[in-house]
Amino acid sequence: METRIIKLEQEESDEDLLQEAGSVIRCGGLVAFPTETVYGLGGDALNKNSARKIYEAKGRPSDNPLIVHICRFKDIYEITERVPKEAVKIADAFWPGPLTMILPKSDRVPYETTGGLGTVAVRMPSHPVAQKLIAYGGGYVAAPSANASGRPSPTVARHVIEDMRDKIDVIVDGGEVGIGLESTIIDLTVSPPQILRPGYITRKMLSGILGSVEEDITILKADSGQAPKAPGMKYRHYAPKGELTVVQGDAKEVTAYINAHAKDAMAAGNRVGVIATEELSGEYCADVVKCVGRRDDEDMIARHLYTVLREFDEEGVTMIYSESFDAKDFGQAIMNRLLKAAGHKVIKLD
Ligand code: TXA
Ligand code: MG
Repeated sequence: METRIIKLEQEESDEDLLQEAGSVIRCGGLVAFPTETVYGLGGDALNKNSARKIYEAKGRPSDNPLIVHICRFKDIYEITERVPKEAVKIADAFWPGPLTMILPKSDRVPYETTGGLGTVAVRMPSHPVAQKLIAYGGGYVAAPSANASGRPSPTVARHVIEDMRDKIDVIVDGGEVGIGLESTIIDLTVSPPQILRPGYITRKMLSGILGSVEEDITILKADSGQAPKAPGMKYRHYAPKGELTVVQGDAKEVTAYINAHAKDAMAAGNRVGVIATEELSGEYCADVVKCVGRRDDEDMIARHLYTVLREFDEEGVTMIYSESFDAKDFGQAIMNRLLKAAGHKVIKLD
């Protein structure tokens, strides 16, 4: 299959192009598109064949459920059995935006979309291109991140082209995404509600509205002995080809540790990369040093993380060391993805 790439120019003609892309979804095809978090790979959420095609294009296990994207709040009533008042409250506060809610599904949603579960994940994205495509695509668009299974989520169309060319019908290039990490997932079928995947909408923001909010214990811990509640979180996602180690501790000790180990690894024939903050990036001696942003600028670090992991792959880096980041608020999402990419390989120096 030849993939059509549609580049949006922020002109009136975009509207026609999005309408065409929407009709591809309505006819059972697959379209990758930007959202404010990462690029999604969209198909008709109410069509079981579309769901099957999504799993196939991604090479993703079909027990890993998809998020259904809507563009109007009232559409939530079509695809869920019950909408608790908590859902209405957090939708008022954070939708459209980077928040996904787990709710009991209605009969309209096929089990192919929910990976066999009786619950459905629902999100209303804020990206204008996503909103239009969902509307033109029939209102219910199932979309996982548009990466091949096991690779970092795409934050620019080029990443999608790398992973999905000739596997899907259309890629809509709407430029770089704003956030760079996937949405927060909150399960509203349990009481108190539980965060299954951290993201830009933090626990503090959610508990400001809902009161008590719990967290899946597996978010930052490898050794909890429990399976994550979001089926997708059990896979070693976001994995770069090189072996990644996260180094935690005081700045001086971290740079000294990384430099000593980078030197040995390079002597042993590795190509070594470092994920560094702006403050320390000048301190490292390695083949490739990538700066993700200032230490206190979580938004910048989040936006760069997946791009940097992909660049290490392209540049043939076989051993990667990363600084560790403060795991509070949005930083928790950054550390969750980084630790998963590292398969929880962490060196603690303090
Ligand atoms: O920001 C995002 O959420 C992006 C954009 C495209 O919207 N989408 C995304 O989808 O990250 P995906 O498929 O890569 O991740 C969805 C996660 C998986 O870990 C999946 O297991 C979980 O959501 N999930 C989906 N439905 C669920 C359900 N009913 N119960 C528990 N977890 C669910
Ligand atoms: Mg994903």
